[in-house]
Amino acid sequence: MLSLIGQNWTHFLWALIATIMMVIIGFLTPLLLSEIVDSILGSEPFTMPDFLMNPINALGGRDFLRQNLWIPALALILMNVVNGVFTFIKGRSSAIASENIARKLRNDLYRHLQHLPFAYHVKAQAGELIQRCTSDVDTIRRFLAVQVMEVVNTVLMVVIAMSILLPRSVPITLYSLILVPPLFCFATWFFKMVHKSFEVADEADGVLNAVLQENLSGVRVVRAFGQQEREVEKFDRVNNDLRKKNLRLNELLAIYWGGGDAISMTQTLLTLVVCIIYACNGWITVGTLIVFTSTLGMLLFPIRQLGRTLSDAGKAMVSMKRVQAILHEEAEPDEPNALKPDLHGDIVFDHVSFAYPDDNVPVLRDVSFTIPAGKTAAVLGGTGSGKSTMMYLLQRLYTPTSGKITIGGVDIQQIDRKYLRAHVGLILQEPFLYSKSIRENVGITAPEQEAERIEHAADIASASGFIAKADKGWETVVGERGVTLSGGQKQRIAIARTLLKDNNILIFDDSLSAVDTETDAQIRAALRHEQKDVTTLIISHRVTTLSQADLILVLENGQITQQGTHAELCSQPGLYQRINSIQNALEEELTQAKAAEGVN
Ligand SMILES: Nc1ncnc2c1ncn2[C@@H]1O[C@H](COP(=O)(O)OP(=O)(O)OP(=O)(O)O)[C@@H](O)[C@H]1O
Ligand SMILES: [Mg+2]
Repeated sequence: MLSLIGQNWTHFLWALIATIMMVIIGFLTPLLLSEIVDSILGSEPFTMPDFLMNPINALGGRDFLRQNLWIPALALILMNVVNGVFTFIKGRSSAIASENIARKLRNDLYRHLQHLPFAYHVKAQAGELIQRCTSDVDTIRRFLAVQVMEVVNTVLMVVIAMSILLPRSVPITLYSLILVPPLFCFATWFFKMVHKSFEVADEADGVLNAVLQENLSGVRVVRAFGQQEREVEKFDRVNNDLRKKNLRLNELLAIYWGGGDAISMTQTLLTLVVCIIYACNGWITVGTLIVFTSTLGMLLFPIRQLGRTLSDAGKAMVSMKRVQAILHEEAEPDEPNALKPDLHGDIVFDHVSFAYPDDNVPVLRDVSFTIPAGKTAAVLGGTGSGKSTMMYLLQRLYTPTSGKITIGGVDIQQIDRKYLRAHVGLILQEPFLYSKSIRENVGITAPEQEAERIEHAADIASASGFIAKADKGWETVVGERGVTLSGGQKQRIAIARTLLKDNNILIFDDSLSAVDTETDAQIRAALRHEQKDVTTLIISHRVTTLSQADLILVLENGQITQQGTHAELCSQPGLYQRINSIQNALEEELTQAKAAEGVN
């Protein structure tokens, strides 16, 4: 945090200067009042410094001021106007500095999140990350905007108040400070309590955000399973938890303000009584009494305020810790010596085994196969057999636990991560669309002026038809804020988007599952025609899709149990043969049903 403050030191310096000036003017006001009462209206000697007294004496001294009372009055008004100007400067400079810091923190967080490994994002809860990037950063911003200068203010006020009060009367000053130590202890106790309490409340806030975010993005599941009531109950539970924790925090604040006020008021009254006794006995003047009673507030108020400063500091520390926790997560390391080889070569999985981090169960076991360059391989396997995991490994989203993967003979661990991902197009099982137009969604990697390429990609992906029919064609907004597309339409947009990349390898992770068999065949035919050099991997459950591949891999429980061509696998007993006969039988039934319909 100190380095962040350091980067904005000029703004903080201005805020500091303005704070100092405000404190000085704040003290000058009662001093001037006391001078008016005691020395202009009364007959006590002046206590103003020489540089002020000399011109006054030259003009006629006390008599002159008595006849021109507007002069001290004007001085009082002017002082307050100047005070207003400094208040503005302080507020503005603190705001600029704190907003700059908040912006930098948010940017740093965002940038860091972009570079954290895929494994981190899979585990992290989006709602909580959002809370850290927004409300935690805001807690820090508020502390910097208000409380840093408050600390300066408090220290200055105490020092100046003491230097004004002590020379006027040592005993009254001491009486005025009797309750300061307990007030101070009270503030410190409060700081500790608030720190703990805020940490708990902030975490509860994170949980609430996570629940909210999950519910909103899973709205379909919630509706489909009629889980609204359960969701409302769940939300109410975490919401109530947050209420309780916030209440506890506010209770603490109320105790503090109440207790602090009681101590401060008692102290003020005590000083007033002492001052009155002293004034009645003629030991101090009425002006000194004014100085004491008005300055005392300036001494006690910041000390009482200290509790708020400390509690905000506590909150900012908690938030900073949570922000730092993200910033300290290890990002994917830079690889200055990484290779950028030609990726047109054979893809080889060489005895690859893999278990997810923090999970000892192996998901892939001793997987070995070779896909010759430019050929198409298809993967068949039950759910959870490790198909997607295999593709993640190929994109270096995870690292194999043992064994290696090579492309054109180069171990992919040595290939530049960005380069590899740029040339290995992965079309996910569940594509994500931005809340943007179809054109922008397809063209995320292409500049807008490349309309022709974008439209051509959509042609290959058999997406042009439905895009043309959409409300505003290519400019139709989709995603969360726009029209809802069908699963198959989304898949085709995702395919078109990936085709715009400069792919050497293309992976379809079940990404043709939501389009009908005819469209599936159409897309594959177009791809074969357009992307001849591209090595293609297709995960699919459709035998019609699988059968045309040059190589078919059968994955069962993380192990390759069969590999070969359609003809080879059909002649071997095993999963492929079983699936093939089931799907053929279904197909036959369908054809018969259609034929029967035709007869009728
Ligand atoms: N991030 C993860 N952390 C831990 N385990 C995971 C993770 N992702 C997947 N798994 C587990 O790894 C196994 C393989 O998952 P994978 O997603 O590769 O299956 P799949 O073959 O693609 O299945 P599907 O056909 O349903 O998509 C599953 O048992 C799954 O529970
Ligand atoms: Mg999968």
